[in-house]
Amino acid sequence: QATTTILGIETSCDETAAAIVRRHGNGRAEILANMVRSQFDEHKAFGGVVPEIAARSHVQYMDHIVAQALEQAGLGFGDLDAIAATAGPGLIGGVLVGLTSAKAMAYAHDLPLLAINHLEGHALTPRLTDGLEFPYLLLLVSGGHSQFVLVKGVGDYERWGTTIDDALGEAFDKMAKMLDLGMPGGPQVEQWAKKGDPTRFDFPKPLLKEKRLDFSFSGLKTAVRLAAEKAAPLSDQDVADICASFQATILKILDNRCRLALARFQTEFPDLPPRLVVAGGVAANRAIGQLLQDLAVEYGAELVVPPIQLCTDNGAMIAWAGIERFNLGAQDGPDFQARPRWPL
Ligand code: KG4
Ligand code: ZN
Repeated sequence: QATTTILGIETSCDETAAAIVRRHGNGRAEILANMVRSQFDEHKAFGGVVPEIAARSHVQYMDHIVAQALEQAGLGFGDLDAIAATAGPGLIGGVLVGLTSAKAMAYAHDLPLLAINHLEGHALTPRLTDGLEFPYLLLLVSGGHSQFVLVKGVGDYERWGTTIDDALGEAFDKMAKMLDLGMPGGPQVEQWAKKGDPTRFDFPKPLLKEKRLDFSFSGLKTAVRLAAEKAAPLSDQDVADICASFQATILKILDNRCRLALARFQTEFPDLPPRLVVAGGVAANRAIGQLLQDLAVEYGAELVVPPIQLCTDNGAMIAWAGIERFNLGAQDGPDFQARPRWPL
């Protein structure tokens, strides 16, 4: 197969990202550049991402980030085979900025365009990092998503479960906000949890008795709030104990759900060792990583945890998804519409 080089653009949340990825003829993937500009400081004062600010900031930095990526790769537009951009799901203003920029660049340089589903970018990342074969089970846990997806091929996805309310990262973030720990919440809660007693509070574990693979975290959030109100005023030890108990509850929920999912994989693919992949910002959590390692050993599963900069939002995963689709003959027209919602 020919060498393919694609520029990938990601703007669905609060990262302006552009990357250049090359797939060599022998199948080896190479990330030639991976630029990410976080808007963290612009949103910090508001305690969350403000869509209008995000979109404007993407406009402001888009050209610069793309130029940086090309420079780092030592390439010009003429060296590219195509341009890929996130077309959804996400904050629609930001998605429009990235997709419209990509359309303009593709038109100006006479290159094919690939409109990428952001979730497909996450789902195919272990093939970029580890050349993982299909099929595999993806646990996607980020600020916007908590899903189990069976990845059977490019464009061939089966959602096995999702959250019926909050995403897991969102639950961490809301916890941190409630306890005034600062943003982003996940890493803060994880740090406080290390100093706390995980057995002090017994928080609910919704849906645990059910055999479907869905998640629910909003009841947990309410229970934490009630516990915090009851224990107020909170000492540092109280905060640490709440965080530790919260994280322990999350671990129990994930343990239970992953066991169900792995068992289902074994049933559907009795001749394969289970393959499990985790993606999304929550994959940075060490305790969750350890849980997945232990489960992988117990189930004889192959576990892939991509490096954290490829688990969180980035352009390389969009470029790679573009390469995979391009090599199957896919291409999208300039009339492709940005989609705020777009399930896999
Ligand atoms: O994938 P990501 O960077 O952005 C999207 O949501 O698409 O994920 C960010 C989420 C945030 O909710 C953040 O709190 C969470 O990942 N997160 C963590 C940790 N690091 C980031 N959650 C738990 N523990 C962590 N160490
Ligand atoms: Zn994401």
